[in-house]
Amino acid sequence: MKAEDARGLNHVFLDQEARNGLRELMLRARQPAVKTKASVRPVTAAVEIHGGGKVERLENLRKQAEGWQAAIQLGTLREKMVFATGNPDAELMLVGEAPGYNEEKEGEPFVGPAGQKLNDILRAMGVRREDVYISNLVKFRPAMPRQTTNNRKPTPEEMAACLPLVMAEISIVQPKCIIAMGGTAAEGLMGLEGTVGSMREKWHDLKGIPTRVTYHPSYLLQSGASNQVKRFLWEDMLAVMERLQMPVSEKQRAFFLPKA
Ligand code: URA
Repeated sequence: MKAEDARGLNHVFLDQEARNGLRELMLRARQPAVKTKASVRPVTAAVEIHGGGKVERLENLRKQAEGWQAAIQLGTLREKMVFATGNPDAELMLVGEAPGYNEEKEGEPFVGPAGQKLNDILRAMGVRREDVYISNLVKFRPAMPRQTTNNRKPTPEEMAACLPLVMAEISIVQPKCIIAMGGTAAEGLMGLEGTVGSMREKWHDLKGIPTRVTYHPSYLLQSGASNQVKRFLWEDMLAVMERLQMPVSEKQRAFFLPKA
């Protein structure tokens, strides 16, 4: 532009096409850099599984999770790592999304109100919390500005960062059946998209392990949760019980059915 300046020219003529192009560039520059699910690259950091029995291998994995750089370096998760709870020899593994306020405080998944609801569901199935293996896809509580007791859903990047850890847990525990609790867990574990309603009522394959998707227990705590949603979740549990060849009583079969 120096020659133009020297000639006293301070305008440039832009035709309509050039103006549209510039407007597009300006609009794009103003967009925050939000990554879509498709643009989140899988995390390739390798988990090292060593040790003899399952307890030792899970303990080694827990130590690796504490310093898991793929998650820590995102800078969007809180510091404390919350691993898993339950029986390493369990036939049933349940996976939620991420620890919340209560779980971070106690250092254990599903101990807050959603955890109490999960305990109720397990009790109705005739199993104790200690008999199953309970984990989360994301091992650190997602951070928020001015955070107190409020929680947020993990982002696709946070889920991708922690995926190798939960996959390693699955390969150590080798459950006969997995339940993904809520759409976020189903999305992070199996790349499913859509509503829980569209993911449930069928068996999915997660590394050769039959996996069922159902509603997150916290969904049942919402004031609007209808008996129909409770019945849907219970039908998913009945399908799991049948798959695991657990006894199912007539009373259990009738839970949340409309009274005749
Ligand atoms: N919700 C989850 O998904 N996981 C927990 O551990 C608690 C609440």
